[in-house]
Amino acid sequence: MQKYKKESISPPSGPSLPRLNNAAELSEFVESQRLKGKKVGFVPTMGALHKGHISLVECSAAECDCTIVSIFVNPTQFNQVEDLVHYPRTLEADMAMLSDSPCQAVFLPAVEDIYPCGTAMEKHWDFAGLDVPLEGQFRPGHFDGVAQVVKILLDQVRPDMLFLGQKDYQQFAIIRKMVELEGLPVELCLCPIVREPDGLAMSSRNMRLSEQQRLDALALSQTLFRARERIEALRPENRPRPADICTALEAELKSQPAITLEYFSFVHPLTLQAVEDWVSGSEILVCVAAWAGPVRLIDNIIARVP
Ligand code: PAJ
Repeated sequence: MQKYKKESISPPSGPSLPRLNNAAELSEFVESQRLKGKKVGFVPTMGALHKGHISLVECSAAECDCTIVSIFVNPTQFNQVEDLVHYPRTLEADMAMLSDSPCQAVFLPAVEDIYPCGTAMEKHWDFAGLDVPLEGQFRPGHFDGVAQVVKILLDQVRPDMLFLGQKDYQQFAIIRKMVELEGLPVELCLCPIVREPDGLAMSSRNMRLSEQQRLDALALSQTLFRARERIEALRPENRPRPADICTALEAELKSQPAITLEYFSFVHPLTLQAVEDWVSGSEILVCVAAWAGPVRLIDNIIARVP
């Protein structure tokens, strides 16, 4: 009987995903893509990647020839130093996920690349009130920091398309406004929320939840699903007012001892103002923010009024 010697199997040594470590490397890469006539898609992230982030890369790959992902934990959008310090940083795992995705390059700037003159805000935008409700009530200055970093990233990457997740719907609305105010030549694409099989919206923060807190956190998505069901089952005769349904569901969330609710709201997707009346055929954005133990979670869903 012939014996076979077991050989060690090494992974194929194909080209690894380019890491662009500063603005100069980024602009050289982008220039080379443009010279080849490629359409460039951009997915900004803060790392600690999960399938939700990867879905944005996939949306980009479906529309563009070249997708660039940035990983940059932006200090100016954190309200608490604690949150910034504890923000998960998992670069090698992120690179492994991106290597298996249709991404062509990863931009990994240092704070000095993004803020060579310091992190002070050079400009304030008038977001036409979009920054006031919802997250605006609880995270003062957060959206100034988000708009500031996305403007800088867009100036550096100069993509044809920008891909953002519905998970942070208000962030999308703010960035859309900033792009409009600045007249930036970029097309925005809003990508759907990716959820765990039990409904929890994927988030980099979920890894900080204990097993029990993760179960408690399901109340958020479950309440959103119930809200959508109730809105979409409305009949023209004998409709309760939007505030009645919203307040009833809000009270249920408030009664959960393991959850500390910050807001539960029905708003117009364009203005983010509270919905006063039903308009047939219109969309309603149902938004929630709550703490499960030490972790602040946000989620939302879009419902259509019949
Ligand atoms: P981050 O929280 O890393 O999210 C990056 C992008 O992934 C955002 O557009 C977000 O909406 C999207 N995303 C997060 N969870 C998702 C999910 N479950 N399904 C689909 N998309 C999801 O948002 C930021 O970073 C930062 O504010 C940033 C825009 C990068 C500026 O610093």
